[in-house]
Amino acid sequence: MKILILPTVEAVTKHAARRLARQLKRKPHSVLGLATGGTMDRLYAALPAMVAEEGAQIEQMRSFNLDEYVGLSGDHPQSYRHYMATRFGVPLGVDLARMALPCGDAPDPAAEAARYEAAIAEAGGIDLQLLGIGQNGHIGFNEPTSSLRSRTRIKTLTRSTVAANARYFDRPEDVPTRAITMGIATILDAREVLLLATGAAKAEALAAAIEGPLAAASPASALQLHPKATVLCDEDAAAAL
Ligand code: GLP
Repeated sequence: MKILILPTVEAVTKHAARRLARQLKRKPHSVLGLATGGTMDRLYAALPAMVAEEGAQIEQMRSFNLDEYVGLSGDHPQSYRHYMATRFGVPLGVDLARMALPCGDAPDPAAEAARYEAAIAEAGGIDLQLLGIGQNGHIGFNEPTSSLRSRTRIKTLTRSTVAANARYFDRPEDVPTRAITMGIATILDAREVLLLATGAAKAEALAAAIEGPLAAASPASALQLHPKATVLCDEDAAAAL
């Protein structure tokens, strides 16, 4: 694992945006693995200017997102599909049909998970997978105790994850408790992985992932197995290393 510690969140954001833009410049038809959350908000906001600066082509890319809440339709304002359309697809001018996410309101979520896993393989796999990290070490919605061999499936969210997500919903009872998420083995299949961590709240989870044992208690520690994984973090997130 390559660890890159930069002084500030702004530096992390800029570095990641440049990395992504260069990926698209080198291979315009890249298959990207995308993520959601506050960390990615900043990255996606920086991307249009960086794509222009690098002279990258974005129209030919395809993407697969890590996860989606079970029970939310794609037009729900808190669905990850809506998040990706408003923060990535529309500002960057990417045809939304090129951006895949699991369907949260599929009648049979387990079948939808299997379909999604197969669709990633049919697309030839993911060239570059972006990841954030949960305060409990989750990647995607692979909560602690997730199997290192897991594939796309339904996961029940831990109480701490539901609490962390509550800020986005009006009422606590509206916060979804289950998600369809790529599995840890699905993530490890990506040809390259870039994990972003910023802020002191991620310090403990990041230290466990990088310096702790490879353990199901820290899903992000699975990246220790990946031949081309980079962790990009600010000094606050690196504080416990
Ligand atoms: C959610 C997403 C994760 C993301 C995490 C951290 O749980 N499913 O993919 O990494 O949030 O989000 P943030 O960047 O807001 O801390």
